[in-house]
Amino acid sequence: MTQTPFLPACAEEDVPDGGTLLVRLGDPARPVLLCRSGDAVHAIEPWCSHAFQELACGMVRDGWIACPAHGARFDLASGEPLNPPATKPVATFPLRIRDGTVEVAV
Ligand code: FES
Repeated sequence: MTQTPFLPACAEEDVPDGGTLLVRLGDPARPVLLCRSGDAVHAIEPWCSHAFQELACGMVRDGWIACPAHGARFDLASGEPLNPPATKPVATFPLRIRDGTVEVAV
């Protein structure tokens, strides 16, 4: 079984606390939204599962991101929705930080 390789995404400090950074990784390039909540950085797909609005401008707090369109929140670790109107999760990606570089497996 082959494992998906981790790809360098950005420097750890490029992801603002309480904010997001949209990156494109792989070939063909796949958009990935990096989100920081405190010390934790997570990688999720950049679209809400409710009506596919962009999450990049969403509020990040306490391990979740809120969709700016209708307010659904998603757990950043699992991608699971925390409140309506979303009922389905958003995809998450394995992430690691090595020598100050954020790496994501997409
Ligand atoms: S598009 Fe995100 S909650 Fe509706």
